[in-house]
Amino acid sequence: MIRADAAGVGKLGDRVVNRLGFGSMRLTPRADTSVAIKVVRAAVELGVDHIDTAAFYVSPGGVLDVGEGAPRYATELIREALHPYPRELVLATKVGPWAETADDLRAHVHENLRRLGVERLDLVNLRLTRRGGSLAERFRVLADLRAEGLIRDLGLSNATLDQVDEASAIAPVVCVQNSYAVDLRRDDDLVPALAARGIAFVPFFAIAGPRREDGASDDHDEAVRRIARTHGVTPHQIRLAWTLHQGPNVLAVPGTGDPRHLRENIAAGAVRLTADELAAL
Ligand SMILES: NC(=O)c1ccc[n+]([C@@H]2O[C@H](COP(=O)([O-])OP(=O)(O)OC[C@H]3O[C@@H](n4cnc5c(N)ncnc54)[C@H](OP(=O)(O)O)[C@@H]3O)[C@@H](O)[C@H]2O)c1
Repeated sequence: MIRADAAGVGKLGDRVVNRLGFGSMRLTPRADTSVAIKVVRAAVELGVDHIDTAAFYVSPGGVLDVGEGAPRYATELIREALHPYPRELVLATKVGPWAETADDLRAHVHENLRRLGVERLDLVNLRLTRRGGSLAERFRVLADLRAEGLIRDLGLSNATLDQVDEASAIAPVVCVQNSYAVDLRRDDDLVPALAARGIAFVPFFAIAGPRREDGASDDHDEAVRRIARTHGVTPHQIRLAWTLHQGPNVLAVPGTGDPRHLRENIAAGAVRLTADELAAL
């Protein structure tokens, strides 16, 4: 069985994690929460030590017909699956969208602490609704919470390099989480620029691509299909492998609620693309 260390390790600040992690946004659409819990446990059993979440990943309508008290939030599913958490696990969350004020941001942090059942969050990404513009006021709120000991490390999501540099002058930025895929290439220049600063790049929608929240499809570019056939893997695995080849600072967090897809995604970390294949993609 291929494990999450197949793609090697990367750094989130001073913490070392396997480059193949797990995104929890696809856990909540499933009606059967017991499958979601199994997927999270299987990820950790396969060596995943970096899980991405958010307190706003909640089942449609916020309610699932699964009985009184059943978890509906990805954060609660993760807590149910893994608490007390393994020491080596980095649980990354995000706050910010819809936060108008400093009080909103603080409330988001406290909601994450409560739902995950921890006294300190490992990593909080400030999720920007718009690329560009000043983030200093909002980032200072999180830097203060970090200084108070409620957050270990900080990152950004949906950010430009200028915003990374603005934030880094306030507190260390350990990662940037932006949408990026073989067919979503806005950040080609950002990845090496972050590497030069010792900052991890954590792409989301690596598999979903331009379909974004709508999820994966079977509609793939011919080069992706051909290279998948050569390696005896699926086109989705090639999409994921491609992101991992974009730099040593790239950490993958593929999202799935499907146990088979979880194993395939972890196995994608073992796919080695040639220079010709990368050029074709
Ligand atoms: N910072 C942000 O603003 C932000 C935004 C979006 C997401 N994220 C994070 O990034 C993670 C990744 O993003 P994502 O989950 O939206 O997209 P993704 O990882 O690119 O793709 C997920 C989609 O692909 C399917 N899938 C996964 N593995 C597959 C496989 N091996 N074969 C075929 N289909 C597969 C999933 O469905 P199944 O469930 O059926 O497998 C789902 O439809 C999220 O889970 C979340 O933690 C962050």
